[in-house]
Amino acid sequence: MTRPSFRFPDGFHWGAATSAYQIEGSPLADGAGPSIWQRFAHTPGMMSNGDTGDIACDHYRRYKDDVQLMKALGLHGYRFSINWARVLPEGTGRINPKGLDFYSRLVDQLLENGIAPNATLFHWDLPAALDDRGGWLNRDIAHWFAEYAEVMFKALDDRVPRWATLNEPWVVTDGGYLHGALAPGHRNKYEAPIAAHNLMRASGAGIQAYRAHGKHEIGVVFNIEPKYPHSDSAEDVAATRRAHAYMNQQFADPALLGSYPPELKEIFGDAWPDFPEDDLKLTNQKVDFVGINYYTRAVVKHDSNAYPLKAVPVRQPNKTYTETGWEVFEQGLTDTLTWFKDRYGDIPLYITENGSAFYDPPVAENGVLDDPLRTNYLRKHLKALHRAIDAGVNLKGYYAWSLMDNLEWSLGFSKRFGLYHVDFATQQRTPKATAKLYAQVIESNGGVLDE
Ligand code: BGC
Repeated sequence: MTRPSFRFPDGFHWGAATSAYQIEGSPLADGAGPSIWQRFAHTPGMMSNGDTGDIACDHYRRYKDDVQLMKALGLHGYRFSINWARVLPEGTGRINPKGLDFYSRLVDQLLENGIAPNATLFHWDLPAALDDRGGWLNRDIAHWFAEYAEVMFKALDDRVPRWATLNEPWVVTDGGYLHGALAPGHRNKYEAPIAAHNLMRASGAGIQAYRAHGKHEIGVVFNIEPKYPHSDSAEDVAATRRAHAYMNQQFADPALLGSYPPELKEIFGDAWPDFPEDDLKLTNQKVDFVGINYYTRAVVKHDSNAYPLKAVPVRQPNKTYTETGWEVFEQGLTDTLTWFKDRYGDIPLYITENGSAFYDPPVAENGVLDDPLRTNYLRKHLKALHRAIDAGVNLKGYYAWSLMDNLEWSLGFSKRFGLYHVDFATQQRTPKATAKLYAQVIESNGGVLDE
C-alpha cells in the first residue's frame, strides 16, 4: 500500500491554543492582582464595543468542561498561558496560593484526560503593579520575570512537559509601546526598542531559571509574518528588508544569534540605543524548541510617510482576506519554516498558533455550524505545513488557534477564531465544521487531507 501523501510523521503532536486573558474571565477572583489588560479594557474607548475580559469564556469556572471539549477533538496537547498576577498579585514577592492552585487543577485535569499541558508564562497580561514600576521599560523586569518563572517551575514542572517564556514579544512592543492600540497603550518610538530588549532579556533570564529548576523543555514563541516585495524596485526591496527585520528578526535574532539586525538602527535612528554586549549574552540562551505563530504574509511597498518603517502593506487583488484583514496565504507558512531553519539552524519547531477569523452563521437547529472559509484555511495550511516537513524542516507539532471563540484583545468578541463557537450570552459551546475536520486530521494523522 502506498503511504498517503499528507500523513504526518509518527508522533506528530496535535494541539490547540488559548491565552489567559482571552478566555478565563474572573480576572480578580480569589486574590488575583489586576493586570494591564484589566486596566486597559476598563479604560473607555480602548476596546471595541466596550468588551472586557471580565467574563470572556468563563473558563476559570468551566475549565473541566473545556477539557472535555479538547478530549472530544482528540487533542494530544493544550497550549495555555498563565496570568502572572493571579499567582503573584504584586508581580513579585507574595504568592497567592489560590491563583497557583487554579493552574495546578487545570494541569491535573488535562493529564487525567491524556492531554499534555504546554504552558506559556507571559501572553501579554503583565501585572499592573509591575507596570506601575515601569513595566517592560524597567531593566529589573528580567529579575521579576525569572522570580515568577521559578515559582511556576517549582509548582508545575513535575507535570508540565513543555514551557514557553513569552508569546509574541513583537505584538507587545508594536501594539503596547509604539502604536498604542494594545495595553499598556503607549505611543513612543523611544520606548519601543527598550521594551523589546527587556522582553528578550526576561526571556533569557527565564530560560536560565529553567535550567536550574526544570527538567523538561523550554522555548519561546514568535509571530513570524513573511514579507514579499511589491515590485523589484530597489526602494520596495529595501522596504521589505526593513519590515522583515522589524517584525521577524528583532526578537529571534537576539534570542537565537545574540545580535540585532542592522536595519533596526536604520528604522529607529536616534531612538535605537546601543545595547551592552552582556545583555546579548543573556538574551541568547539555548532553547529546546521555538514556537512559531503564523497567520498571514505582507506584500510590502516603500512609502516615505509611513512611520517608522517607511513601508506599507499592499492589499492583493482577488485574494481571500479574513475578518482581521489578513490575506489567506498558505505558501507563507512553508516559506516561513524553511527561512527559519536556514537562518537559525535545525531547532525543533512547533506551530504554536495558526487560524482564521471569519463570520460564522448562527448555529443551526441541528447543532451544526458550517464555517467553510475557516475549514478551507485549515486544510490549506496543514498541507503547506506538510510541504515544509518534506523540505526537511524539523517540525514537531501544530496547535490550532483557537480552541474556542474568545476575546480578540482590543477587537473584543467581534472576531471569532474558534474551533468551537461560543455564545457569549449563554456560554454554550458548539463545534464548528472545522472542529470536525480537525478531529479527523488528528485521528488520521493528516491522512484525511488526501481526500
Ligand atoms: C496572539 C493571540 C491572538 C491571535 C489572533 C496572536 O497574535 O497570540 O492572542 O488572539 O494572534 O490575532
